[in-house]
Amino acid sequence: MPHTAMTLPPGPSAPPAVQTARWLFRPIEFMDACRRHHGDAFSVRFLGFQTPMVMISDPAAIGALYRGRESGLPPGRSFALEPVMGSRSVLLLEGSEHLSRRKAMLPAFHGERMRKYESVITEVIHAEIASWPLGSSFPVHSRMQAVTLEVIMRAVFGVTDPARLERMRGLLARMLSNTASPRLQLRVMLARRFGRRDPIDNLRREGAAVDDLIQAEIDERLADHRPGEREDILSMLIAARFEDGSEMSHEELRDQLITLLLAGHETTATALAWTFDLLLRHPEPLARLRGELDAGTDGYLRAVIAEALRLRPVVPLAGRRLRSELRVDGHMLPEGTDVTPAIWLTHTRADIYPDPFEFRPERFLNGAPETYAWIPFGGGVRRCLGAAFAEFEMRVVLREVLSHLDLRIANSKPERIARRNITFSPRGGTPVIVTSRR
Ligand code: HEM
Repeated sequence: MPHTAMTLPPGPSAPPAVQTARWLFRPIEFMDACRRHHGDAFSVRFLGFQTPMVMISDPAAIGALYRGRESGLPPGRSFALEPVMGSRSVLLLEGSEHLSRRKAMLPAFHGERMRKYESVITEVIHAEIASWPLGSSFPVHSRMQAVTLEVIMRAVFGVTDPARLERMRGLLARMLSNTASPRLQLRVMLARRFGRRDPIDNLRREGAAVDDLIQAEIDERLADHRPGEREDILSMLIAARFEDGSEMSHEELRDQLITLLLAGHETTATALAWTFDLLLRHPEPLARLRGELDAGTDGYLRAVIAEALRLRPVVPLAGRRLRSELRVDGHMLPEGTDVTPAIWLTHTRADIYPDPFEFRPERFLNGAPETYAWIPFGGGVRRCLGAAFAEFEMRVVLREVLSHLDLRIANSKPERIARRNITFSPRGGTPVIVTSRR
């Protein structure tokens, strides 16, 4: 094998502050410009990070990265999340500690379990659409946030008591809006760079009230004489055992629930908003989907969701810190390098997706793409734990909305992709108008 020197691929030469600003405010243009100038792999420098981050988009390289089971997390993930999610969060732990959580939690997220949540999701979306006005515009993104929050409170946390639901709704909504503030990451970066008070401290204080409510749910289950009859994910986690037979502590249960909330709420709401945005701007796929839903089949619905997640991936990066060398695009990246697939760049490769910027669900009807060419949920041992849950929830919500309502987009100008903390979301919130009830 020819000798390859340990080098990082070249990247933009602008100072880190400029690259950070471009990433925060114009991420698509930034990545696209990097692709045009540097190709499949390039190194970027972000403010507050000691070393460059290598972005990759070739599925073969992504496969090699995600198959490296021993790789760790890049520093960015725990940056703003650890203080809120807690130190035992499955999303933040590494190595054997991470794997043991994943193993214990996986059964609760198996595809076939999802049917159990169908009635809860259907109930939530029916109540939601009953409140939608006829003939006046409202942003579908914020309505989807309300739906996914309600679904998590009921299917994941298993809250049924109306008073507790009401109280939790208010507390979680506040916690989520602070966590998702578009300026939070910037404020954290600036506060840490200039030694000012960390804005995360406020989030931590608000979390204490949520912890009390979660503890009440746990206590209720422990006192329950028929705990096996509950279907919610908290009940499954209480019953889960690690390989040595031990159970999750109450503190850990709390960390995992908040993790599932933060990982699953905004992401699923945004994916739904983008799917409505794309569908309502493309009459042919919309008509075909309606026809297939009326006929009771869901193959096209699955393809619509896959295509929406391809063209509008909600989470832009899902990286690793290398524990061993990795060959990428003619460069041998040394151990310790931070490497991340640039998900949008991967999903818009013309060699894999002809006319990559067209919304064309049909491309997913004849078999799945290569494993590492469609990565909205990341991959390998850290692939999104809630992927089956998210896709199932999306199918139920889209099916129910489109079977009960006729909608149109309220703003003919295409939605721009804007960063909202860790997600790429529709800048205008996708305003829609309900034109009639079916
Ligand atoms: C469309 C909606 C969603 C998208 C696009 C999404 C995307 C992602 C991505 C990209 C990752 C990182 C994967 C990696 O590093 O390889 C992730 C991790 C994770 N997601 Fe999701 N997610 C969604 C919904 C959910 C839901 C509904 C839940 C739970 C209810 C959830 C729970 C998690 C957890 C626990 C992790 C951490 C996994 C680990 O580190 O082992 N996600 N998600």
